[in-house]
Amino acid sequence: MRAWIDGRVLPDATAPAVLVSDHGLTVGDGVFEAIKVVDGLPFALTRHLERLSRSARGLGLPDPDDDAVRRGVAAVLTGEPLALGRIRITFTGGPAPLGSGRGDAAPTLIVVADRMEPWPATTTVATVRWPRNERGALAGLKTTSYAENVIALADARTRGASEAVFANLAGHLCEGTGSNVFYVVDGELRTPTLAGGCLAGVTRGLVLEWFGGREVDEPIEVVRGAREVFLASTTRDVQAVSRWDDVDLPAPGPVTAAALEIWREREPELLGL
Ligand SMILES: Cc1ncc(COP(=O)(O)O)c(C=O)c1O
Repeated sequence: MRAWIDGRVLPDATAPAVLVSDHGLTVGDGVFEAIKVVDGLPFALTRHLERLSRSARGLGLPDPDDDAVRRGVAAVLTGEPLALGRIRITFTGGPAPLGSGRGDAAPTLIVVADRMEPWPATTTVATVRWPRNERGALAGLKTTSYAENVIALADARTRGASEAVFANLAGHLCEGTGSNVFYVVDGELRTPTLAGGCLAGVTRGLVLEWFGGREVDEPIEVVRGAREVFLASTTRDVQAVSRWDDVDLPAPGPVTAAALEIWREREPELLGL
């Protein structure tokens, strides 16, 4: 692992480095990005930086300095190239009083790179009983307040699934803890709209641009009649779902296989610093 914090590379990436009063640590007041690294190069870096700024604005944090973030990314990618890895950028409210109110210190900016194991080609998902709140203050933001995802994922894992999927308060299919959902009904590829509270996944956006699909909000029960399902995320890319709760699915089905082929073809276009 390599780590960079507020302009300096840590000599030991595993040593303590953030103040105990950091508002990201004490109350989850922070935003983050996870970026795939292939052969030492980040994938879709500009799109991730744009989303980092959108998330920061959504929390009322100042915009992160893009040049500083890019310097951090370059710093953690220096040296032996990661064949497959992940960069994690974290931007928090910085040192602050111990309650919910922010302090007046500068934000904390952290960039970390580490190796990553590829996901298997197919996976299983479980629906969880807690809703995504599409009307909440954090809807659609990639914040470090992810404990709901931690609980949901742990629940899905006890049921043998690798991802938990939420409906929103309206009962519509929303998203996974770290992925967007695509499904095929009546021969049509569909995915929930952003208004339904899911994150504007970089992978989701690229699948829609490169391959197509209709954005629509439907009751989560629609997936019980789906012919195919796939997950889309930075670490999973396009990953076929072979089982959803107690329903078996062909994995990959023909639409998923075609989306994956386009993905593999076009991915190199967005690799680079
Ligand atoms: C809640 C949530 N939804 C969707 C995604 C997928 O987004 P991306 O494709 O940008 O990784 C993520 C990413 O981790 C996420 O945290």
